[in-house]
Amino acid sequence: MTPVPDQDFIKQTFPEPVMPACSIVKTLRGQKAIVTGASSGIGKAIAIALGHAGADVLVNYVSGPDDAEAVAAEIRRCGAQAIIHRADVSKEDEVAAMFARAREAFGTVDILVNNAGIQKDAPFDQLSLVQWQRVLDVNLTGQFLCAREAVREFKRRGVRKEISCAAGKIICVSSVHEVIPWAGHVNYAASKGGVMLMMKSIAQEVAPWRIRVNSIGPGAIRTPINTEAWGTREAYDGLLKLIPYKRIGEAEEIGRAAVWLASDDSDYINGTTLFVDGGMTLYPGFETGG
Ligand code: BGC
Repeated sequence: MTPVPDQDFIKQTFPEPVMPACSIVKTLRGQKAIVTGASSGIGKAIAIALGHAGADVLVNYVSGPDDAEAVAAEIRRCGAQAIIHRADVSKEDEVAAMFARAREAFGTVDILVNNAGIQKDAPFDQLSLVQWQRVLDVNLTGQFLCAREAVREFKRRGVRKEISCAAGKIICVSSVHEVIPWAGHVNYAASKGGVMLMMKSIAQEVAPWRIRVNSIGPGAIRTPINTEAWGTREAYDGLLKLIPYKRIGEAEEIGRAAVWLASDDSDYINGTTLFVDGGMTLYPGFETGG
């Protein structure tokens, strides 16, 4: 049974959400970005962070246009352009149409953030083919379809030195579960393991075109969809046993990592996963010596 979130505990433990001020450092000025699954959670934070850093952003969503529009409004408030676009990333024609829309609105695409992802959990022997397939379709095939469109555009256009020293950047939002097995979530862990080797293989293939492909591997991040993992004292204490740094992460921390990975500050980083996880991948069971 899902525990009911304890509002008093949440108020005492976590900071009130505040929208960061518009950054004056526009490291991504002139760059055009697509962020998939950008109407909530980690995708929303990434889209806003890229916008605050000066990028124009296509805010992709699959449901909830009002939430997507609010993200676009925040980006515009800080001076960049933003449009919203509905597309299911697992559908080849919808992905092609989304890239066409970005080219039409912005002229090109410099940054793709492959963020859209879902979970459909079940004990392994009850995991249906439909649950397996849908998670693989969105989390892995969706990232493939978007990355392929992005690479086509980056190769077509090449490097524009005044914009960036790379022809394009792809950031895959993976998970600590690309390396940590996850009982009860076999479809999800398999999709993220797939993202890891897909990302590295694309990176190896397209590096000569000056295209960089990397992943961010978030650990436990406080978003509305995983409230059951942090919304009560008991749940949060249990979660902290998995995190050496002893706090949950905030979506804005993933946003800042994405800005850096998209910028020329990380120009020599290619084919790697940046874990933003408070040490979750450090075998925390051994923190007292094993
Ligand atoms: C999942 C979260 C989970 C985290 C750590 C992420 O990939 O989406 O629900 O809390 O991994 O287990």
